[in-house]
Amino acid sequence: MDRGHRPSPPRNPRAPHPPMTRSPPPDWNPEQYGRFHAERARPFFDLLDLVQPRPDMRVVDLGCGTGELTRVMHERLAARETLGIDASPAMLAKSAAFAGDGLRFEPGDIAAFSADGAYDLVFSNAAIQWVSDHEPLFARLAAALTPTGQLAVQMPANNDHPSHLTAFAVAAEPTFRDALGGYARQWPVLAPDAYATLLHRLGFARQHVRLQVYGHELASREAVIEWVRGSLLTDYEKRLPAELWPEFLDRYRECLLPQLDDTRPFFYPFKRVLLWAAR
Ligand SMILES: C[S@@+](CC[C@H](N)C(=O)[O-])C[C@H]1O[C@@H](n2cnc3c(N)ncnc32)[C@H](O)[C@@H]1O
Repeated sequence: MDRGHRPSPPRNPRAPHPPMTRSPPPDWNPEQYGRFHAERARPFFDLLDLVQPRPDMRVVDLGCGTGELTRVMHERLAARETLGIDASPAMLAKSAAFAGDGLRFEPGDIAAFSADGAYDLVFSNAAIQWVSDHEPLFARLAAALTPTGQLAVQMPANNDHPSHLTAFAVAAEPTFRDALGGYARQWPVLAPDAYATLLHRLGFARQHVRLQVYGHELASREAVIEWVRGSLLTDYEKRLPAELWPEFLDRYRECLLPQLDDTRPFFYPFKRVLLWAAR
């Protein structure tokens, strides 16, 4: 790596992130993602609490992952039929264990999802941050609902935390930027009020949109790296040549750790947008 060209330290967290290009869906590592299972499940349950159960619901879970939580939702709602869709073969490989009794899983890309008035609930937990252009995406999600259907979506909004800014900054360093072919990750998640306006424009008379900060007590600041490796960093891991990945991770650690307090436990605040809407 050309250490002479490093633009460190990472840029000011308050500066707006530059526009970036559309990204294909990542593949995922279920084991790495599952390392913080309890912490990552909390927003799922908060989102599910927003849904109003109705008899005989037809549900789609976009970016269902392993399907473990899709199963929980299917049972909690006593849904007639639930379809889990995910683009990751590794995640979907785990889903067979949770299928049955009206719950099934299919490979698919959220960016290509459309279903004319077919669903009583379109649900997506921690997945559509991987899909760009949320305005047309939400129009398609809205069109997939029955007239009384509900939309429930949760997305991370922690892109201004050093854990994320550092990843963007390291990926922009010449060695990695060249290896990534100039790829810079899109951050498509809008501000909460923009989603409220969008939902209103799409004809949802009832809506609940909030930004929630989840406070995670991690063993140490080192654990932040493991957290981000299970989500955001997968985007770089799959795009970089295998031999460069350890170097990326070392550089990420080198830049990130001095920005985080060396406390045990380490408190990691993580912002998320939760939204629910119905007509
Ligand atoms: C953070 S995981 C969340 C999984 C699950 N919803 C949960 O709450 O545990 C994100 C999932 O979204 C999937 N994903 C990302 N982009 C996608 C896309 N464009 N189409 C379908 N699935 C996608 C990933 O494969 C991954 O399984």
